[in-house]
Amino acid sequence: MRVLVVGGAGYIGSHMVRALLEEKYDTVVFDNLSTGYREFVPERVPFIRGDLRNVPDIQGVFRDHSIDAVMHFAASSIVPESMSDPLKYYHNNVLACINLLKVMMENKVAKFIFSSTAAVYGEPENIPIKEEDKTCPTNTYGRSKLMIENILSDISRAYDFSYIALRYFNAAGAHPAGEIGEKHNPETHLIPNILKTARGEKSELMIFGDDYPTPDGTCIRDFIHVQDLCHAHLLALKALKDGKKNDIFNLGSGSGYSVKEVVRTVEEVTGKKIKVKIVPRRAGDPAKLVAGAEMAKKILGWKPNANLEEIIGTAWVWECKS
Ligand code: UFG
Repeated sequence: MRVLVVGGAGYIGSHMVRALLEEKYDTVVFDNLSTGYREFVPERVPFIRGDLRNVPDIQGVFRDHSIDAVMHFAASSIVPESMSDPLKYYHNNVLACINLLKVMMENKVAKFIFSSTAAVYGEPENIPIKEEDKTCPTNTYGRSKLMIENILSDISRAYDFSYIALRYFNAAGAHPAGEIGEKHNPETHLIPNILKTARGEKSELMIFGDDYPTPDGTCIRDFIHVQDLCHAHLLALKALKDGKKNDIFNLGSGSGYSVKEVVRTVEEVTGKKIKVKIVPRRAGDPAKLVAGAEMAKKILGWKPNANLEEIIGTAWVWECKS
């Protein structure tokens, strides 16, 4: 089976490419390198530099390679940026994905795994969050991903098309071999920013708000190791191969940590003291996101392995090398 990994030079996509190769899948990468890195993709993997906003680029890939399934990682994914530049998010996440789906239909490629997000829930009514809970995003990023989930549902009813949407909670950590990891420019994510402070690259960590309705006032998130996310994708691919029609799964650990707790865990793992500064809230941040991941366990047989210390440990090795 040949899998097209769209966004395979990015953070999660590049880990996925390695996971697919380990399982002996033929793999092709398509990426515009806007946030990805060519060197994250192994030399032996066919790499096409192209843009989903340019339909002939996509058509070329399907013309030149016989594709059986698509994993779609390419997206803009920074919550605060999605609030200040919503059109970028609708263009890169919605329009671009529709182009991809249209070309898939033209080529009768019927298996799709979509990188969705916990941001589709917005401010949840229940914790842990279940897949059937209300989706009411508080930011444009979450709304753009929810639009695609709705489109997938519509097209799967109309055409021969099966999909699994995976709602990631907070992806973090790095490949254990230390060759690839999280690398954004600018870096906005919590764990890499704390680690950059630990290394002295940043003088202090800004904590965006300590007046949330949580025990210590800082936001609570559910961190999931990127390798565990990739494992879930392999199981989702197998489910589609075995004839599964459509589904949506949360991918999280089920445990929530506040921003301050994550800072303390980094201090323990690295042995470095982190200087923090409390600043005002960031636009679009929900107070608490913790996954109920029972469905992925029950239906895909997925179970996350890495705890927060292990996630931070692999991210620290990567941060010190990069
Ligand atoms: N935070 C800080 N200081 C920083 C960076 C982050 O206090 O320097 C706080 C944020 O305000 C937030 C928490 O840490 O409360 C986590 O922020 P991240 O930017 O690391 O992650 P988000 O929760 O905003 O978003 C991430 C992904 C999204 C995904 C979401 C799902 O980037 O793609 O998790 O939970 F939708």
